[in-house]
Amino acid sequence: MRHLLTLEELDRAALTRLLDRAERFRSGGAPRELLAGRTVLTLFFEPSTRTRTSFVLASKRLGADTLNFDLSHSSTSKGESLLDTLHTLEAMGLDALVVRHGENGMPAYLAQHANTRVSVINAGDGTHAHPTQGLLDALTIRQRRRDLENLHVVICGDIRHSRVARSDVRALHTLGVRDIRLCAPGAMLPESPAEFPGCATTEDFDDAVQGADVVIMLRIQKERMAAAQFPEAADYHTHYGLDTRRLALAKPECQVLHPGPINRGIEIAPEVADGRQSRILDQVANGVAVRMAVLAELLAPPA
Ligand code: CP
Repeated sequence: MRHLLTLEELDRAALTRLLDRAERFRSGGAPRELLAGRTVLTLFFEPSTRTRTSFVLASKRLGADTLNFDLSHSSTSKGESLLDTLHTLEAMGLDALVVRHGENGMPAYLAQHANTRVSVINAGDGTHAHPTQGLLDALTIRQRRRDLENLHVVICGDIRHSRVARSDVRALHTLGVRDIRLCAPGAMLPESPAEFPGCATTEDFDDAVQGADVVIMLRIQKERMAAAQFPEAADYHTHYGLDTRRLALAKPECQVLHPGPINRGIEIAPEVADGRQSRILDQVANGVAVRMAVLAELLAPPA
């Protein structure tokens, strides 16, 4: 593995190895000097709380030199191109570049043009992929259920614009999950079923959630929608919000995930977000461990 751009690059063995490594890191097994002398830089063209901070923490916990590239005070504001920015940073001795961009494929474009010393990690590109989110969601689910092939998973919300849904489905399918149901109003379902092979789709959330083992709720991404597509918040919550009545239709130990940030009272009721079945803060904690595993795999692969 030189870059991590999508989860399509990982087969079941590679994905499992990353999750196993993340689990060891989560339980305190991280050698603090593993990445000593290596340099990791985050370059985010879109806002982030969880992904950026956890990459910085992950990198520091493994002993790397870690920098956040401050776009607003950089020479990109003077017109410097993305490739010139990349080559300038490479010349300073960069080892890994963690990139978030609003355009699909931008991390892959940078990976194509990066010098052979640099690993590019996709921290979310447009509606395309968010591979470390897919990994941390799989890790979170696997912590409670090892029989992944028996799971009934529901993903509900703005599937059409969701890079998280795409990476979650890829990770779960690779790990053997067979029953994945995508639920949303018609305008938020995938434009083509071919985008999510092997997944069922429905507009009926009550029906989808019956007997579910895992429900992954998604944020409505206003930044990726035309204004005319915004649903009315109360109406959306009535039909597609996860509240305690709806959660009671799922299995009693159903795990509730959400990548964050959450819109309380729109896609998820506060009592569910903060309730016994919520794994939202476990996802955040697992995010650090997964990003440590990815950095270690790319920059210090096992002998
Ligand atoms: N889940 C996620 O990507 O969150 P941030 O946008 O806060 O990084």
